[in-house]
Amino acid sequence: MNNIEREIKYMAQVVEQELRRYLPEKDEFPSKLHEAMHYSTLSGGKRLRPIMVMKAAEFFGMPYEKVMPTACGIEMIHTYSLIHDDLPVMDNDDFRRGKPTCHKVYGDSLALLAGDALLTHAFSTIAKNSKIEDILSDAVIDVIEKVSLAAGGYGMIGGQTVDIATVGKDVSLDTLFYISSHKTGSLISISLWSGARLAGASKVDLEAIKSFGKKIGLIFQIVDDILDIKGDEIILGKPVGSDVKNMKNTFVHLYGYDNSIKLVEKLSFEAKELLSNYKNNDFFIQLTDFISKRNY
Ligand code: IPE
Ligand code: IPE
Ligand code: MG
Ligand code: MG
Ligand code: MG
Repeated sequence: MNNIEREIKYMAQVVEQELRRYLPEKDEFPSKLHEAMHYSTLSGGKRLRPIMVMKAAEFFGMPYEKVMPTACGIEMIHTYSLIHDDLPVMDNDDFRRGKPTCHKVYGDSLALLAGDALLTHAFSTIAKNSKIEDILSDAVIDVIEKVSLAAGGYGMIGGQTVDIATVGKDVSLDTLFYISSHKTGSLISISLWSGARLAGASKVDLEAIKSFGKKIGLIFQIVDDILDIKGDEIILGKPVGSDVKNMKNTFVHLYGYDNSIKLVEKLSFEAKELLSNYKNNDFFIQLTDFISKRNY
């Protein structure tokens, strides 16, 4: 394990502990719902989005402990998106984060509702960030607005909608870029932006971190598409071959394997360039490599 992997593993444990604090108690009524939320949210997952919130805050001078509610809220949104993405009416996958998917254990209706509850609980969790010393309420309101936009029809759900609408159809490269940059890039980019906004970053810095986020968000999905072909199910903790089974328009499908790897290299170079003028950019440079070369 190299340095960044160790750091990500450590920070993922911090996120895990905090998520336990912010989720409703497992045995609270209706307990099956809360159990399903715990099942999918805890024990598993790389926690990259909350780590991005935390690291972006630190990058702009704020201790990461101060942005934990936002970090956890964004992980709840991400987890909800995975629960719904796996449902039989979507990708119909049985395995996630090394375990049977939420609907396999709790049934379709409860999985749908656990996703709904995670999405809504996320925003009350993010709102709690305003109670933390040195955090401005204006910044929290901005974060709520921007996260809501990035998670909804203009962002992640827009991408998911076009992903589903284009199954089995020929699509242009523009459409493929739309799908990936929205279904995955939007939440990644807004995670970085949110940490920076809470830390009081300037407009110029916010733009820079957001553009960096868009690049690594796109890289993240291209690599996800590659891993759906070349990955190891046990290491990934989710099925390979899901995209082929579902006739999805992925980068590997449209661009080919070698060209997808080349595109990742190109985007990775461009991402690093965007932060090259910043001192202490080590974590983000290494993160770009981690995301580009990951096997899980
Ligand atoms: C998987 O995201 C879904 C995509 C957006 C491609 P991650 O690979 O971050 O999944 P976890 O959180 O580590 O399980
Ligand atoms: C899903 O993309 C992105 C989400 C918004 C959940 P995929 O469908 O490729 O994600 P995986 O491969 O199931 O994790
Ligand atoms: Mg999907
Ligand atoms: Mg899927
Ligand atoms: Mg995938």
